[in-house]
Amino acid sequence: MKVTYLDGYNKMSDKAVRLFMKELKSKPKSLICTATGSSPKGFYQRLTQRYAKDTVLFDKLTILELDEWGGIEQTDPNSCYSYLQTHLLQPFNIDSNRVIAFNPNADDYKKECSRVQGKINRIGPIDVCILGLGTNGHIGFNEPSPYLQRDCHIEDLTEESQQHSMSRGMSHSPQLGLTVGMKDILNARKILLLITGKNKQETIRELLTGKVTTQLPASFLWLHPNVECLINTKVINNGV
Ligand code: GLP
Repeated sequence: MKVTYLDGYNKMSDKAVRLFMKELKSKPKSLICTATGSSPKGFYQRLTQRYAKDTVLFDKLTILELDEWGGIEQTDPNSCYSYLQTHLLQPFNIDSNRVIAFNPNADDYKKECSRVQGKINRIGPIDVCILGLGTNGHIGFNEPSPYLQRDCHIEDLTEESQQHSMSRGMSHSPQLGLTVGMKDILNARKILLLITGKNKQETIRELLTGKVTTQLPASFLWLHPNVECLINTKVINNGV
C-alpha cells in the first residue's frame, strides 16, 4: 500500500482524480466499485469537471455500488443508491444498464447478494475500487469481526456504522448492511483508499502499523499489490 499524505481535503480529492484518470484512460471499459460517504464526495465532484472535457472517455464504464443500508427503499434520499445517483449516475449520464446495485428492500437478502455476486463474477474483476475508511476500520460494510467474508453478503452493523452521518436522516437506524465482500475488493486491479473525516485518528494509527487483522478490515489492503492510500493530514493533525 502506497501511502500519500495530502494537505487538505481538496488536495486529496485532486490527487484521487489524477490517479483515477490514468486508470480510466488505460481502460475505458472499466468496472468501477464506488464507496459513498463524505470521503469520496470531493473526488466525484472534481471528476465531473473531467467528464465535461472528455465525455466519451466515460461512456463505457460500469458502476458497482460498494455497499448499501438494509431495510430502506432504494429511493430513500439517505440510501447509498441515491447518493450515487446524485454524485455519479446523473452527472455522468450513466444508464441503469451500466449500474450494479443492491436492492436494500429485497424480500430475500441472501438471494439479492447472490444476484449481485453473479454479476460481479460475470463482468469482474473490479478495475478500480474507490474506498473510504469507516471510523471502526471497515471497508464497504465489511465490519471488524473474528472472520471476514469472501463474497457479497449481509452484515450486522456495528453501532459506529449505524451512527454514520448518512443514516442520521433515516427514521430508524439501520441494523443491516449489504456489501461487496473482501475477495472482490482484494481482486481489484487498483484500489484508491481515501482517508478523511472525524474520529479516525486512532484507526489510522492502527492501520499504519501494517499489522493485518480481521478486527481492522482495511488492514487487509496491505496484502494487495496496487493500493494508493491518500490521507488528508488535517485529519491526523486536527481530527477534522
Ligand atoms: C459508510 C459507507 C462506506 C464508506 C464509509 C466511510 O459506512 N457505507 O461506503 O466508505 O462509511 O464513510 P465516510 O467517508 O463518510 O467517513
